[in-house]
Amino acid sequence: MPFAPLKNDTFLRACWRQATDHTPVWLMRQAGRYLPEYVATRAKAGSFMGLATNVDYATEVTLQPLDRYPLDAAILFSDILTVPDAMGLGLSFEAGEGPRFARPVRDEAAISALAVPDMDKLRYVFDAVTSIRKALAGRVPLIGFSGSPWTLACYMVEGAGSSDYRLVKTLMYSRPNLMHRLLEVNADAVATYLNAQIAAGAQAVMVFDSWGGVLADGAFQAFSLAYTARVLAQLRREGADGHPVPRIVFTKGGGLWLQDMRALDCEVLGVDWTVNLARARSLVGEGKGGKALQGNIDPNVLFAPPAQIETEVAKVLQSFGKPHKDMQTNGPTHIFNLGHGISQFTPPEHVAALVAAVHGQSRALRA
Ligand code: CP3
Repeated sequence: MPFAPLKNDTFLRACWRQATDHTPVWLMRQAGRYLPEYVATRAKAGSFMGLATNVDYATEVTLQPLDRYPLDAAILFSDILTVPDAMGLGLSFEAGEGPRFARPVRDEAAISALAVPDMDKLRYVFDAVTSIRKALAGRVPLIGFSGSPWTLACYMVEGAGSSDYRLVKTLMYSRPNLMHRLLEVNADAVATYLNAQIAAGAQAVMVFDSWGGVLADGAFQAFSLAYTARVLAQLRREGADGHPVPRIVFTKGGGLWLQDMRALDCEVLGVDWTVNLARARSLVGEGKGGKALQGNIDPNVLFAPPAQIETEVAKVLQSFGKPHKDMQTNGPTHIFNLGHGISQFTPPEHVAALVAAVHGQSRALRA
């Protein structure tokens, strides 16, 4: 597939723990409702799924944050819940209510009936990946993504977001074998889905384990981490243009399990704001087999005035410390991001201040 050569490879270099002249930055949910141009395109599309399933709209909104800010990566505009939707659960997004499944999976019969969906049902996602790659024309790399098997299971069993995870944990504790069967199907579906994104042009892939952190120690390793590992084991190593594709795993609330996650076959670990980056770096960032770290400023920092945002950016950069500078070897690297998705109430000018602060300060940190 003839895609344009990459002009800014800072993000990919940092994923591979290679030296860069600044710390790359992108933001989880960088395309979203805090941008008035996103709200306008969404109104034209009629609904969130109308936006996500239309290749031209999905391409347009993916590029919107890049036209405003000098971000170092783009992320596919879609949602993690497209996979269970393709499994037949009936996804809808009610205005102001978040996602909902018409047919949640709660008993043995429903779990036995689950299978890896026909990827043709997700063709709109792969078409969007290729379209976005073309529209980017090599400006920055494109990240594809999926939910983790556990995080998808939370939505599939609960049927919507949850504050206590009662239904999914009831299933896990009372029928662990059924839970394992659900997670196996999810892992194989996620791997097939990510491989199709890679074949369509994704240059890195990220697994969002947004709800891994709600599990007990022990349960996390058995019901979340083991299935993320099962996904990683099945991923293609090479992208559409023959370049290797780095893999990012983000576990919200996973800071206490970094040593377990060091064993994952991935290049980057995403961390939330509860994690001390210096400590994370010493646990997983150094040496052979070390991981790049991605994160981790509190998204609520973006509600403070620009001067305070700059101070908070400095704290995060200094907490990681100097990335290594030897262009010939691999060593600790940092990819700046939020610790979770950006809020819809964020003032867009504050994002500009954050991105400028990361670029400016991280260059100075290397001097
Ligand atoms: O990062 C990006 O810019 C890419 C797009 C993206 C979306 N969802 C678009 C979206 C990504 C990477 C996701 C991932 C996602 N979706 C996760 C994992 C990341 C995380 O935040 O933990 C989860 C848990 C979901 C499920 C989901 N989708 C929820 C809970 C909601 C409602 C949340 C809300 O803010 O209302 C969505 C809807 C959604 N997905 C929106 C966007 C921009 C907002 C919906 C809208 O425009 O109406």
